[in-house]
Amino acid sequence: MKYRRQHKSLFCISILSPFYFLLLQCFSTVTASNYAATYNPTDNIALDCGSSGNSTASDGRAWTGDIGSILATLQPLDTTIAARAIRQGPVEGIPYLTARMSSSQFTYTFLVSAGLKFVRLYFYPSWYPGFDRSKALFSVKSGPFTLLSNFRADLVADSLGLEYFVREFCINVEENQLLNLTFSPSPSSSNDSYAFVNGIEIVSMPHNLYYTPAGADGIPFIGQTYFYEIENITALETMYRLDVGGHSISPTGDSGMFRFWSDDNQFFMGGGVIPDKANSTIKYTKETPAYIAPAEVYQTSRSMGPNKTWNMRNNLTWVLPVDLGFRYLVRLHLCETNRAITQVSDRQFIIYIDGEMVDEAADAIIWSGGNSIPAYRDYLAMIGFEGTQGKYNLSIDLHSRAGFSVYVDAVLNGIEIFKLNSTTGSLAGPNPEPPKTIFLTEPSQLTIKGSSNKKTTFIAVGVIVTVGLVLLSLRLYTMFRLQRESKDHGYKLKFTETKASLLPWEVCHQFSKAETKEVTHV
Ligand SMILES: *[C@@H]1O[C@H](CO)[C@@H](O)[C@H](O)[C@H]1NC(C)=O
Ligand SMILES: *[C@@H]1O[C@H](CO)[C@@H](O)[C@H](O)[C@H]1NC(C)=O
Ligand SMILES: *[C@@H]1O[C@H](CO)[C@@H](O)[C@H](O)[C@H]1NC(C)=O
Ligand SMILES: *[C@@H]1O[C@H](CO)[C@@H](O)[C@H](O)[C@H]1NC(C)=O
Ligand SMILES: *[C@@H]1O[C@H](CO)[C@@H](O)[C@H](O)[C@H]1NC(C)=O
Ligand SMILES: *[C@@H]1O[C@H](CO)[C@@H](O)[C@H](O)[C@H]1NC(C)=O
Ligand SMILES: *[C@@H]1O[C@H](CO)[C@@H](O)[C@H](O)[C@H]1NC(C)=O
Ligand SMILES: *[C@@H]1O[C@H](CO)[C@@H](O)[C@H](O)[C@H]1NC(C)=O
Ligand SMILES: *[C@@H]1O[C@H](CO)[C@@H](O)[C@H](O)[C@H]1NC(C)=O
Repeated sequence: MKYRRQHKSLFCISILSPFYFLLLQCFSTVTASNYAATYNPTDNIALDCGSSGNSTASDGRAWTGDIGSILATLQPLDTTIAARAIRQGPVEGIPYLTARMSSSQFTYTFLVSAGLKFVRLYFYPSWYPGFDRSKALFSVKSGPFTLLSNFRADLVADSLGLEYFVREFCINVEENQLLNLTFSPSPSSSNDSYAFVNGIEIVSMPHNLYYTPAGADGIPFIGQTYFYEIENITALETMYRLDVGGHSISPTGDSGMFRFWSDDNQFFMGGGVIPDKANSTIKYTKETPAYIAPAEVYQTSRSMGPNKTWNMRNNLTWVLPVDLGFRYLVRLHLCETNRAITQVSDRQFIIYIDGEMVDEAADAIIWSGGNSIPAYRDYLAMIGFEGTQGKYNLSIDLHSRAGFSVYVDAVLNGIEIFKLNSTTGSLAGPNPEPPKTIFLTEPSQLTIKGSSNKKTTFIAVGVIVTVGLVLLSLRLYTMFRLQRESKDHGYKLKFTETKASLLPWEVCHQFSKAETKEVTHV
């Protein structure tokens, strides 16, 4: 009886299975196209500060002037000035042509939906009528977060060899809350410091893009034994977003959130090869939908090349300067586009971040499930003690897993690095040191520096700290390393606890107040 019933139902299924199959296929094509869809942000504000009316930037993005705009309110109105840069040279154009400036505090308030937002601040440190380029010195706060502190946009631009730049942050807006951005000139001995901003962008992002979704495991904390959750109460600052082995991707080429992806040339330490750009269509999935990164990121990569002997003796290495004293989210993007590589163990490699092994058998096929399917992995790194100041070279090393892998090789498609706010809510790092070779006084003497010397000037980026502070940081850092090394000497990272807790040194550490600002590359 029982047997017969089972038999009957099996018969039923076998008759119906072609229909099921068709149905499933139909369903999967529908969902697949959903995964391939770019993101459509709820809030998408591009405010061109110091101008009025609508305008279109060279990349086609629509900007709205802040004068008379309903997108934002500005307070107080009477102490700020809408200004046009004196020198309008080879500047990109909108939103850099005009700025909002003031020698006293001002606040922009945006009425936006609840949820996570990208907040982008656009700066063109130039001469504006009545405002000396080097006197801009200010802080930017949003709710409990200090985004910039004693910020010198001119030093940042000079150190990058750029005329203008963008800073990107991720901030959560609670239900029925407004998003405020307060610009405050920092006190200076001559009382003539001022604050300015050329453009402000606010774009919604999917909640699970960088933040830990409810119920998820969290992110492996390098050198620790637990997972770390990035929660709504934490703000992020983008440090790097690199299309490894590819070209920079403009905001309009992103998958809907206007993120800028740069090439990795100045951070890659050499030795690798750039494989042919894959023709393959990137197959986005539920785990890695298209908004995670545009196809171009996954179609380009760096690998080690065909010389096994050389590959065995070397690493694929990226070196990315960051600020000491903060936690960082490190995201690695991987997608196997080499058609010859389809099986697990075809190309396996070891991943080290900051000298620590974080994956002893990275494999694009394991990560994603197949060729041309994208995947990413997140890691959390604490760099130095909170409160220490200075620069630190964060390294990412890939080494082939010879003996376990068909190809003696390693490969990577993309890198993103974000700074997490400190326990006091700050994301601000020190300003770069004034470049010694550049002496700027008047607009007429301004020498235009192209982005071609980006690399050399970047390497020259220094930090304003006294020798004593440097030594102190080094000491603290050595202690930190020793402590960490003694903790994690194993071959494999073990994660047992599931919840992040405050580390002892974070609880008892005294914070340095001298927070100044530095560079990023977004
Ligand atoms: C600017 O564009 C918005 C729609 O994008 C429109 O509602 C508004 O009227 C425009 N303003 C002007 C001054 O053209
Ligand atoms: C965090 O914010 C997201 C929206 O951005 C919301 O869906 C989620 O419930 C929030 N989580 C908590 C714990 O407030
Ligand atoms: C933003 O500013 C408004 C008006 O000034 C204030 O009511 C609100 O509490 C502020 N929101 C936050 C998150 O600070
Ligand atoms: C700086 O400003 C304060 C008050 O805002 C004033 O008392 C002081 O005299 C000013 N100092 C200089 C050097 O202008
Ligand atoms: C991509 O396609 C072009 C032309 O269709 C071909 O010449 C090239 O070899 C292909 N590249 C790869 C990596 O398959
Ligand atoms: C491979 O690399 C090794 C070590 O760098 C070198 O000695 C050898 O000449 C290389 N072989 C080829 C074919 O380039
Ligand atoms: C690769 O990098 C790791 C981590 O920094 C290091 O321990 C290892 O010695 C490097 N290997 C080679 C061959 O350079
Ligand atoms: C980082 O590396 C660059 C060159 O690779 C070096 O010039 C610089 O001094 C390093 N910075 C630190 C803080 O070690
Ligand atoms: C970020 O700042 C907020 C507000 O000060 C704080 O509650 C939160 O714990 C901070 N996040 C981290 C990771 O320290």
